[in-house]
Amino acid sequence: MTLQRSRPRLMILDDPGAVDRRVAELIADLIREKPECVLGLATGGTPVGAYRELVGMHQQQSLDFSRLTTFNLDEYVGLSGDHPQSYRYFMQHHLFDHVNVQPSRTHVPNGRARDIDREAREYEKKIDSAGGIDLQLLGIGSNGHIAFNEPGSPIESRTRTVELTAETIEDNARFFETADEVPGTAITMGIGTILESKRIVLMATGDAKADAVRTAVEDDPDPINPASLLQLHSNVTFVLDRAAAGGLSTSGSR
Ligand code: PGA
Repeated sequence: MTLQRSRPRLMILDDPGAVDRRVAELIADLIREKPECVLGLATGGTPVGAYRELVGMHQQQSLDFSRLTTFNLDEYVGLSGDHPQSYRYFMQHHLFDHVNVQPSRTHVPNGRARDIDREAREYEKKIDSAGGIDLQLLGIGSNGHIAFNEPGSPIESRTRTVELTAETIEDNARFFETADEVPGTAITMGIGTILESKRIVLMATGDAKADAVRTAVEDDPDPINPASLLQLHSNVTFVLDRAAAGGLSTSGSR
C-alpha cells in the first residue's frame, strides 16, 4: 500500500448497463489472465447487473471460475447464510450458484459466528493465506461509506464489527419489509484491509450517488468520507454512469 495521494482513474459511461458490462469485462480479463486470482466482491443493488453479465460470460463463453477464490466485504451480524437478506444468500443467488466456482473457495464473513471478533481475525488471516486480494469490487454508500466502513472509520481499520448509521439503515431498508428489520450491526473488512488489495474497482450509478462520488474524488482524503481514502491507493478505477458522475468538475476517460 502506498500512502501517496493519487487520482482515481475515471471511466464515465452512458448508462448503468454500460457500467455493468465494463465492470464484468474488467473482472473477466483478470480471470482469463490469472485463473487462480483472488476476487474481493461486493453486495447491494449496484453490482447485481455486473454479476448477471459474468454469469452470461460463464454460460456463453465458458468463463472459468473453477480456480479462483473470493472474499466478500461484509455481512450483517445475526443473519444466517440462508436468510434472504444475508449477503451470503445474495452472492449464492446472484453469482455463485450460476458459475463453476468451488464453494469452499467462496468466503463471506459469518454473521452468526459465536465469537464474532475471532471470526474477524480469522477472516483477515484467510485473505492473507490466499495471497491477498487481486481485485476488490466496491460500491459506495450515499454517505460515502465503502463496505460497512461508515464515516469516521480509521484508515488502518481491519475486519471488525461496526454499528450501522441511521442513513445506511434507511438506504438498505428497501431490501427488507421494514427499516426495523435491518440489523444494526455488521462485520466488515476495514479500510486498511481494502487498501491492501492490489487493484480496486468502485462502481456507482444514478444521481443519488453523485455527491458521494464527487467528494470521494475531489475532496481531500478524510475518514469522515471513507471513499476519499481510496485516493491513498495507486490503482483505483471508478466506473460511473453519467448520473453518478454528474457532480464531478472534471471529466474522465471513456
Ligand atoms: P447499493 O449500496 O449498491 O445498494 O447502492 C452500495 C453500498 O452501500 O456500498
